[in-house]
Amino acid sequence: RLDHAIRPRHLSDYIGQTRVREQLDIFISAARGRGESLDHTLVFGPPGLGKTTLANIIATEMDVGLKATSGPVLEKAGDLAAMLTNLQPGDVLFIDEIHRLSAVVEEVLYPAMEDFQLDIVIGEGPAARSIKLDLPPFTLVGATTRAGLLTSPLRDRFGIVQRLEFYSVEELTEIVTRSAGLLGVDSDAGGATEVARRARGTPRIANRLLRRVRDFAEVRGSGHIDAEIADQALNMLHVDHHGLDHMDRRLLLAMIEKFDGGPVGVDSLAAAIGEERDTIEDVIEPYLIQQGLMMRTARGRVVTRQAWQHFGLAPDDQAPRHD
Ligand code: ADE
Repeated sequence: RLDHAIRPRHLSDYIGQTRVREQLDIFISAARGRGESLDHTLVFGPPGLGKTTLANIIATEMDVGLKATSGPVLEKAGDLAAMLTNLQPGDVLFIDEIHRLSAVVEEVLYPAMEDFQLDIVIGEGPAARSIKLDLPPFTLVGATTRAGLLTSPLRDRFGIVQRLEFYSVEELTEIVTRSAGLLGVDSDAGGATEVARRARGTPRIANRLLRRVRDFAEVRGSGHIDAEIADQALNMLHVDHHGLDHMDRRLLLAMIEKFDGGPVGVDSLAAAIGEERDTIEDVIEPYLIQQGLMMRTARGRVVTRQAWQHFGLAPDDQAPRHD
């Protein structure tokens, strides 16, 4: 992977998410001290905040292996059984998008999580046989965008639940500075801060923007990244001064121009901008809500005054309606 070189390997290299870091540090030290595997851990939050990175850090800090898969990939009970029977004692099994496991696969996961027992039926009809196997102790690390997407029996089987938050500009500046150092990118503090400010609170975006700004600086400048060349590059990429990208602006403008600022149901919004409802809920709107640009209400989505102002508009600018 492209980001292999810059992904932190130890908890001490992990920037931000202070609460998560402090808690995991204690739980990992305690489990290690007892010679046990870490309790099953659920990590949730918007994409790009470091869920996969944390799973890898847990494996490194516990000094165990990691096997990774994802909810949609595990189509049949046998697919999960194959993963589980391949684990070494103490290993981390990382399941990304764990909310997308099918009901039959989830059923296999419960006894595996609870008692390290594999309990599956092979064959069909009169030839069907039930097989029970002891599994080695392992740590399931599950990742999902929203904890509410999990069934409650699955959620209840995680001993550790951690929510990742958007990063502050200061934290992202630290991450960009660290990445620039590891990639040999020549960036000063102003350049790093400008990239951080416009990265939607998300390390994955910050690191991607850093690479694109580097390209721009090498071709249009001397290769050195300062605030001004970063600003020019980010303008070219249509990342605005608030860090909103094309989809963010499309969503907010649709709410303002087509729905008078709301309230509007998420399905109507999805149809209006030609996006999947899930993408709006999991990817686009969490940051806009966190930034105070829109709200979720019982009657639907509503933009705030700040969103109108972002586009140089005010709710009162609306042409009078004749309906
Ligand atoms: N890269 C992605 N997430 C990170 C984090 N939290 N700290 C440092 N580097 C990162």
